[in-house]
Amino acid sequence: MKNIRHYLVVILLVLVLTAIVGFTLENVQLMPQAASRQAVPIDELFGWHFWTIAFLFSLIVGFMLYSIVVFRRKEGDEEDGDHIEGNVSLEIIWTLLPLVVVIAFAFKGGQALAEIQRVDPQAMRVNVTGVQWSWRFEYPEYGVSSNELVLPVNEQVLLKLRSLDVIHSFWVPEFRIKQDVLPGNLVRELRITPSEEGDYTVRCAEICGREHAYMTAPVVVVSESEFADWVAQKLASVSDDPVESGRALVEEFGCVACHSVDGTPKVGPTWLGTFGKEETLDDGSTVMVNEEYLYNSIRNPGDQIVEGFVNAMPAAIADSMTDEQVADVIEFIKSLK
Ligand code: CUA
Repeated sequence: MKNIRHYLVVILLVLVLTAIVGFTLENVQLMPQAASRQAVPIDELFGWHFWTIAFLFSLIVGFMLYSIVVFRRKEGDEEDGDHIEGNVSLEIIWTLLPLVVVIAFAFKGGQALAEIQRVDPQAMRVNVTGVQWSWRFEYPEYGVSSNELVLPVNEQVLLKLRSLDVIHSFWVPEFRIKQDVLPGNLVRELRITPSEEGDYTVRCAEICGREHAYMTAPVVVVSESEFADWVAQKLASVSDDPVESGRALVEEFGCVACHSVDGTPKVGPTWLGTFGKEETLDDGSTVMVNEEYLYNSIRNPGDQIVEGFVNAMPAAIADSMTDEQVADVIEFIKSLK
């Protein structure tokens, strides 16, 4: 009878602790705002985990706290404790219960995965290219490309992701889902249905070198009509002026992740005032920075390295540029006096 009272008190203690820990975990906002349909099943799974964690924590800590307080050794008590030999029903319970919980989570996880990967045949396609250390987005159905990911709300987008150099990882925390971006033509897919208009950020979630922490790109979720406007504006903004066209290209291809236009040296030399200058190379020789030198440095980045720098430029960036685009980039560099 006395034991029953102990158990009742501990059960109450465990339930109260579970409620406190569970509500705390749910309300401290461990996750940013959820902004995609794929976020719904994931957040539901997180909810299940929070409550399981709260219960297991309370079960262990509740029994422990109660024992420390109630079964404390009395002064002068030098006797050994009772010798307890096994308990079959307890062993059955603590084997079966976790088994059921694990199977339930496997089932729930499978359901969530199926929901996240549900295919909408109308999905808009966007080709995503990750390169040290920038992102580029191409919309083949519209013939535009950009260094920000603009998406219409409530429409599924099919991202086809590839890398030109090392492993990167495409991650927008508000969309919850994440996909590694692999080199070597191993194109990976990710489906996202943005559900909230707003500004977000793509982060690279795979350490990929010196500027990894800054490998971000804006994500803008807009209404359908705003998206159509953006596409129209993109198509109209293709400039006849080579300097303006070059300015857009160095943003889009991510050149400015490593080359500044204001004189600050970054991973690569700055472009400010470089044209027409005599540059010292790492073998001690000097070279005149002219169109020929710039063209060669873009096409064959490892050929002529400026003193004080190492060759960190992926040749694959220029491989995806036409000669016309390279010429516009050179005109832009020439304009930076
Ligand atoms: Cu790309 Cu980290």
